[in-house]
Amino acid sequence: MSRVYVHEVAARDGFQAEPDFIPTVEKIAFVNALSRTGVSKIEVTSFVSPKAVPNLRDAEEVMRGIERRPGVLYTALIPNVRGAERALSVGVDELNLVMSASESHNQANLNRTKAHSLQGFQEIMKVVRGRASINGSISTAFGCPFEGNVPEERVVDLAGRYLELGFRGITLADTTGMAHPKQVAGLTEAMKKRFPSAELTLHFHNTRGMGLANAFAALHAGADRFDASLGGLGGCPFAPGATGNICTEDLVHMLAAMGYDTNIDLDALLAVARKLPEIVGHDVPGQVSKAGKITDLHSLWEVER
Ligand code: COA
Ligand code: ZN
Repeated sequence: MSRVYVHEVAARDGFQAEPDFIPTVEKIAFVNALSRTGVSKIEVTSFVSPKAVPNLRDAEEVMRGIERRPGVLYTALIPNVRGAERALSVGVDELNLVMSASESHNQANLNRTKAHSLQGFQEIMKVVRGRASINGSISTAFGCPFEGNVPEERVVDLAGRYLELGFRGITLADTTGMAHPKQVAGLTEAMKKRFPSAELTLHFHNTRGMGLANAFAALHAGADRFDASLGGLGGCPFAPGATGNICTEDLVHMLAAMGYDTNIDLDALLAVARKLPEIVGHDVPGQVSKAGKITDLHSLWEVER
């Protein structure tokens, strides 16, 4: 069976976009429950300005409060040197540095030019000095809500800059769900060809219903790492119309049905997913938690005549 690595991002991409603050103890319990499902990476929080993202203002407390389970990598989103220093102070395993492929989304999200972001990354590498591994995310890699089309070469070139800086992995993020499967296959193949040994992750949002189709296209083109969010929560507060990520339990269910090994206990994951509406106070988009797995069969007697 082919191995596929699933990274759970609901505690960051999901909780950042919620209308209400989720209490710190609930965030900690949520991450602990996820740690027991077999996911290989959890994006726990972000170390950004509390004015920009008030929901994640408790990043240090959450990181300090969780139980770290061996085999799970705990990562956090970092926009600048200050964020890196905060993350290092609480022993985050991996810093996920972020900037956008498009100038205008970088400005809206991080209030700086792309050149300024890249310069900041150089400074971060000096501060980190090997104390955490580094992943670099490229937002709006498949399209920008302000500029539209983002040329493939621009994304590949930026990925090259990341690797020159010494990053271990690269995440291509479809921040507002603009990617389609053909485009995903093309960019995944281009990345695999140009940087065969880089750890490549795909981060899709299901904004226009193409999320799992995009994941399948990437898989087919050789990708084996995906970000996904429990319940399909998620969305960038600085991109108009952004909505949820692809849903972790729906992705894992699809991969299991196709015979891929994710190392995830799907029943345990579904149990956590079914508690999510209570945590966030509203229904969530995930489908398998409502419909049940394709292997959950019904008795004929359930059908009313
Ligand atoms: N952690 C905590 N506080 C931070 C910080 C960090 N990483 N970076 C900056 N700040 C604080 C500064 O201390 C300053 O506080 P003050 O107003 O009390 O003095 C304030 O934030 C502004 O700092 P400045 O350096 O001028 O940043 P900015 O206003 O240009 O904002 C970012 C830049 C990157 C800090 C901000 O846009 C941000 O946090 N964006 C997060 C975006 C995000 O998470 N998007 C969703 C995920 S993709
Ligand atoms: Zn996202």
